[in-house]
Amino acid sequence: MDVFESVKTLSSIRSYVRKAVPDSVVREVIEAGRLAPSAHNDQPWQFILVRDRDKLEGLGKYCISGKFVSEVDFAVAVLTDPSSKWHEIDGTRAVQNMVLTAWSHKLGSCWIGNIDRVGLMKYLNIPDNLHILTVLPFGYFDERHAGPVKNRKPPEQVFHLNTFGNRAIK
Ligand SMILES: Cc1cc2nc3c(=O)[nH]c(=O)nc-3n(C[C@H](O)[C@H](O)[C@H](O)COP(=O)(O)O)c2cc1C
Repeated sequence: MDVFESVKTLSSIRSYVRKAVPDSVVREVIEAGRLAPSAHNDQPWQFILVRDRDKLEGLGKYCISGKFVSEVDFAVAVLTDPSSKWHEIDGTRAVQNMVLTAWSHKLGSCWIGNIDRVGLMKYLNIPDNLHILTVLPFGYFDERHAGPVKNRKPPEQVFHLNTFGNRAIK
C-alpha cells in the first residue's frame, strides 16, 4: 500500500475477528517500532509483545478504555524511559510506524490511553523506571467495523500559507 493511501484510510479499530497473524507479520510490526527515529538516537523504548492467549485475556482488565485488547491475536505494550527528554514523542513515532505497518497488512489497531498503569506494571513485570506509553492491540477486523470516513478539521481551519492566518491553502 502506498504511504499516503495508508495515512488516508487508517482508522482506529475497536472490534476484531479471531484469526491468527503470521509470525513474520508480527515480527515486521515490532521491527517497525524498533526502527523509528528518536531524539539523539536515544531509542528510549522497550516493547513487550503479548501473544499468549491467557495473558491477552488478562490484559483487558488493565486497559480500561480498550477492553477489546482481549480479542486480538497480539498486543504490544510500548514502554518509554523518562530519563530521555523526548521519550513520549519518540515512543509515539514508534507507535505510528507499527500501526501503519500493521495497516499495510490489513491489521487494525488502536491507541489505548486509559490504563491502570500500577496494575499493568505488575502484570507485565515492568521495571519501575519505565513509563507505559500505551498498549496497542493488533488484529484482523471486519471491514464493516472500520471507522467512519475520517472526521477531521477542514483544511481552512488548520492550514496557513507563509504566515499565520493567511488562508490561501485550500
Ligand atoms: C494519545 C491517544 C490516546 C487515545 N486513547 C484511546 C483510548 O483510550 N481508547 C480508544 O478507544 N481510542 C483511543 N484513541 C484513538 C482516538 O480516539 C482516535 O485516534 C481518534 O478518535 C481519531 O479516530 P481515527 O483514529 O479512527 O482516525 C487515542 C488516540 C490517541 C492519539
